[in-house]
Amino acid sequence: MSTTDTPTDASTAGEPILSVRRLVKEFPIKSHSVVRRTVGAVHAVSGVSFDIFSGQTLGLVGESGCGKTTTSRAILHLQPATSGEVVFQGRDVTKMSKGDLRRMRRNMQIVFQDPYASLNPRITVSEIIAEPLKIHGLYRGGGRAQVAELMSLVGLNPEHGNRFPHEFSGGQRQRIGIARALALKPKVLVLDEPVSALDVSIQAGVINLLEDLQDELGLAYLFVAHDLSVVRHIADRVAVMYLGKIVEVADTESLFERSQHPYTKALISAIPIPDPRRERERERILVQGDVPSPANPPSGCRFRTRCPLRMTLSETDAARCADEEPALVDRGLGPQHLTACHFAESES
Ligand SMILES: Nc1ncnc2c1ncn2[C@@H]1O[C@H](COP(=O)(O)OP(=O)(O)OP(=O)(O)O)[C@@H](O)[C@H]1O
Ligand code: SF4
Ligand SMILES: [Mg+2]
Repeated sequence: MSTTDTPTDASTAGEPILSVRRLVKEFPIKSHSVVRRTVGAVHAVSGVSFDIFSGQTLGLVGESGCGKTTTSRAILHLQPATSGEVVFQGRDVTKMSKGDLRRMRRNMQIVFQDPYASLNPRITVSEIIAEPLKIHGLYRGGGRAQVAELMSLVGLNPEHGNRFPHEFSGGQRQRIGIARALALKPKVLVLDEPVSALDVSIQAGVINLLEDLQDELGLAYLFVAHDLSVVRHIADRVAVMYLGKIVEVADTESLFERSQHPYTKALISAIPIPDPRRERERERILVQGDVPSPANPPSGCRFRTRCPLRMTLSETDAARCADEEPALVDRGLGPQHLTACHFAESES
């Protein structure tokens, strides 16, 4: 058994294109007095580490408020990290000058959750997709053809470029967002819940498109999602977040077949099974209560206030959950399958 803060994928050859190390993001809480003093902090992300490789997808999963968007935004330096490193192509994003950040963003782009709010309703789709090209001085001489090409690439009719976002469906709008993100030919796409706002019937089409684009362009994805069922299909590796920390990370198959952390097990048990007979036998692991406030996270293991496994432990063992923070540990279950639970083994 070994501990690590660098959950790399041992089965993957080569250097990661993006390495996140001990990423911390805290938002200050200010007093309501005239002199607004800092009286506390929201611990949104508390020491998150992972690697992403070209042509591969890391799924980042967890309940609302666990810090997924904050992690995504800190990676792109849209909200600077409090501490930690974000190493992209060998250079730390957190220490980049404005000029270097601009160049970095040509290679790393973000697609937002809400295709309704993230597209400017007053400009045409062609203009929306052309914007990044214009900002980076790449539009002149062939920009129009590039926009048409990008629309075709994401399955939109290039003849509809003069239409406005409201003339498109939710799925089509997300395709516009993806085309815009691809305009500068990035190497990494951060996809913050790209299908959560879409009808289930349309989600598969957008996920298939993302898979095709990855095959064609060799893109690396950080794919953020609320629930595990969405990432199962697309991710090579999955990291499960709870209250600002990664509690389990593994290759997708290993995570689904041999999950160890009680929180991951509960999330997996919530996924409906298409086979009616097995669905009837599916045993739900229920997690009681609400997620604690990230302004005052529990001591030791942050999951302890809701953990079904802890309820079965002796008083001495349960006390350990409150006193000692569990490290993300490799238990030799699969290539770099790491779990942050003192007692994960005793459950299997
Ligand atoms: N600008 C901010 N100021 C203060 N607190 C913030 C700010 N942005 C986020 N938070 C808090 O940080 C925590 C993490 O939020 P975040 O949006 O990253 O979660 P999330 O996992 O993306 O959730 P969701 O699934 O709902 O999108 C939440 O408690 C949130 O309220
Ligand atoms: S360390 Fe304790 S509280 Fe945390 S997941 Fe393991 S058993 Fe549950
Ligand atoms: Mg979010």
